[in-house]
Amino acid sequence: MHERVTIRPADLSEVEAIASMWQETSKWLHSKGVDQWQYPADEEKITRDVTSGTAYVVTSAGKYLGTITVDENADPEFWAKKDLPTEAIYGHRIIILPHARGKSVGATVLDWASRKAEKAGKRWLRVDAWKTNTELARYYEGQGFEHVRTVDLPHRRSGALFQREAGTITGAGPGFLGLESPLHEPDGTRSTEGQWGWYAG
Ligand SMILES: CC(C)(COP(=O)(O)OP(=O)(O)OC[C@H]1O[C@@H](n2cnc3c(N)ncnc32)[C@H](O)[C@@H]1OP(=O)(O)O)[C@@H](O)C(=O)NCCC(=O)NCCS
Repeated sequence: MHERVTIRPADLSEVEAIASMWQETSKWLHSKGVDQWQYPADEEKITRDVTSGTAYVVTSAGKYLGTITVDENADPEFWAKKDLPTEAIYGHRIIILPHARGKSVGATVLDWASRKAEKAGKRWLRVDAWKTNTELARYYEGQGFEHVRTVDLPHRRSGALFQREAGTITGAGPGFLGLESPLHEPDGTRSTEGQWGWYAG
């Protein structure tokens, strides 16, 4: 895949599509014998993320390739005061659909998030990953993330913490066109005010 992918805020009509991406990924993980994400998508949470403008969809030629949510919400059970939690943005629900895999679109999405963190004046792009998933840990390390530590809480399955310096770009995937909406209406619809801005990477 050489054409640029588009990364833009999702709108409320796309909650269902993001939930199906989760379901499809959950099935794929199960088929690989991985116990990550073996529960239904939390549609309420997706709706909240779409409403707050933090859930994005990744598309190419009008087809969904995946999704990511990025926000400034450091999980207080994982990120401690010493990590300076406000100096990062956090990636969640990072999915590239099976049909789009193996072309490093994940690398593009992480590069996009890294640029976004830099533009927001942050120092880090951070993720938390499934504690027991060594293959996923290898994936993040291959993308230039350092393993900060693994927080092993009995009631949490995630807790392997990774970070990469904001602005670090691997350039391993196709380029992107990022669309940013500075304003979302409280009901999640796109605001008619404010500037929609595109940027390319
Ligand atoms: C991580 C992801 C976004 C990367 O997408 P991509 O850029 O197309 O890269 P690939 O899918 O080719 O993944 C690279 C490798 O990591 C492996 N991998 C990715 N996610 C994995 C997971 N959750 N568990 C185990 N292995 C995983 C892939 O099988 C692949 O291995 P291979 O090179 O031996 O085939 C995508 O694989 C994905 O959606 N994974 C499932 C959801 C997930 O775990 N997201 C991260 C949550 S913290």
